[in-house]
Amino acid sequence: MTDKEIKINFIEYTSLGELKPEDRRLAEAAIEALKRAYAPFSNFNVGAAIRLSNGKIITGANQENEAFPSGLCAERTAMFYASAEYPEESMEEIAITGGKNGVMEDYPVTPCGACRQVMAEYQKKGGKPMGVLMIGKKKIWKFRKVEDILPLIFDSLRKEA
Ligand code: THU
Repeated sequence: MTDKEIKINFIEYTSLGELKPEDRRLAEAAIEALKRAYAPFSNFNVGAAIRLSNGKIITGANQENEAFPSGLCAERTAMFYASAEYPEESMEEIAITGGKNGVMEDYPVTPCGACRQVMAEYQKKGGKPMGVLMIGKKKIWKFRKVEDILPLIFDSLRKEA
């Protein structure tokens, strides 16, 4: 028997001003997208923004539905649109933020498990690491690739243990 450990490496910033200009632009697009959430049931708005390999920024916001499972998270709204509209581009980075009644939280908003799985799929499709930027007013976390937020990811083609 062996005790194993998984370490996750990420960068913490304390303001948008510390980000590289391209990340800052992406973060601002996610914050702007918060306003376009349709969240009458939870009143928790989420905004997402994706930078594609062609430099374009795609945004998404959560869309809720009276029949709850019919709604969709901000991240998946953005990723599905990006892949449907620009199937040849890879997704370089996705930024996420959120807050009650549209007011951004102090802490970084972290994507749900289903959205992480979808990120993993599009990272694989794109063939390059997809960075993940989680934004709060007081802290911002940057992960360099999806594996860092979804360790032991399902991979039907994996050959090694
Ligand atoms: N939500 C997202 O948009 N992204 C996530 O990663 C988790 C949750 C949305 C779904 C729902 O509209 C609201 O946040 C409250 O759960």
